[in-house]
Amino acid sequence: MKALILSGGKGTRLRPLTYTGAKQLVPVANKPILWYGIESIVAAGVTDIGIIISPETGEEVKAKTGNGDRFGANITYILQNEPAGLAHAVKIARPFLGDSPFVMYLGDNLIQNELGHFLTDFKEQHMDALIMLRPVPNPTAFGVAQVDAQGRVLHLVEKPKVPPSNLALVGIYFFANTIHEAIDRIQPSARGELEITDAIQDLINHQSHVEARQIEGWWLDTGKKDDLLEANQIVLDTCLQSEMLGEVDSQSQISGRVKIGSGSKLINCTVRGPVVIGEDCHLENCFIGPYSSVADQVTLIDADLEHSVILKGAKVVGIHQRIVDSVIGQRAQLKLAPQRPKALRFMIGDDSQIELS
Ligand code: TTP
Repeated sequence: MKALILSGGKGTRLRPLTYTGAKQLVPVANKPILWYGIESIVAAGVTDIGIIISPETGEEVKAKTGNGDRFGANITYILQNEPAGLAHAVKIARPFLGDSPFVMYLGDNLIQNELGHFLTDFKEQHMDALIMLRPVPNPTAFGVAQVDAQGRVLHLVEKPKVPPSNLALVGIYFFANTIHEAIDRIQPSARGELEITDAIQDLINHQSHVEARQIEGWWLDTGKKDDLLEANQIVLDTCLQSEMLGEVDSQSQISGRVKIGSGSKLINCTVRGPVVIGEDCHLENCFIGPYSSVADQVTLIDADLEHSVILKGAKVVGIHQRIVDSVIGQRAQLKLAPQRPKALRFMIGDDSQIELS
């Protein structure tokens, strides 16, 4: 059994963060989204992992994630020159996959369930494909499946106008080597991509054994800002354990589950967990409210925030109004002018969103 993680693509929906970095490396609770997928695959006993990368962000993914040693895995990187679709990614990974069955995992997805028993069912029942489904309130935005009472998949449609059910396809699939023949038989869709849903539908049309399982726990697709904040909240809520490696002075008050990394200093701060603060941060006269993740090397002085994600090296100084539901990019700076300004001064990157009141 092998694994294929898709970490290419454009990530247009998370711009501007994804102009300078891979969307799969955006952190959730201070850990890149991609790493949750790797850990969950390794926990299911699969250690031979191929990762699809793009020319734009591939080097960053490689440099950060490495050869797999830190996960107890062996990682092979596979370059996809253009994001020509999920089935296209499988096609170019063929030399890595050979005839092995594999689990395919979209690198911007997170699920709470463990993969182990799905993998066992897939193997023991000799399926050609096993897909994961989850009921959603807005199925028109997803790939949607119609299944019979035994869990066999009858029909799949990509973003249907009239959905046949409310069961969306989660970005995790198990495939036997028969998927390659199916991919060879399909044509690019109207949007010009080789769609994995079309390849699975082709398997169904050829009477192959395609089943689905509904996942019970949460599923997060971190495509957009609010999804990212929700993922951050849920992961902090369910997975964070307190740990205090930094220095906290006697004026500071820490309550709830809070993790503070080594080399970080907190002076006269109130922190109400769940909150994670990375390494080498400087926080002074701050309130950090629940569901906040502060990455490494961040400076926060006279700042007040909650339910927000602050990326590496960002600086927020003298903003007394509470910052909520915000994502602040790497090395971004937010500060108050020394005197009450007659005018506001900005240097704001493409596609940034700022709300002033
Ligand atoms: P998508 O979210 O479908 O595409 P995207 O990353 O281009 O995002 P956006 O809509 O914001 O522009 O991709 C799902 C995952 O699969 C994501 O981790 C990127 C990856 N992917 C590839 O590796 N190769 C591809 O050809 C495509 C389409 C996606």
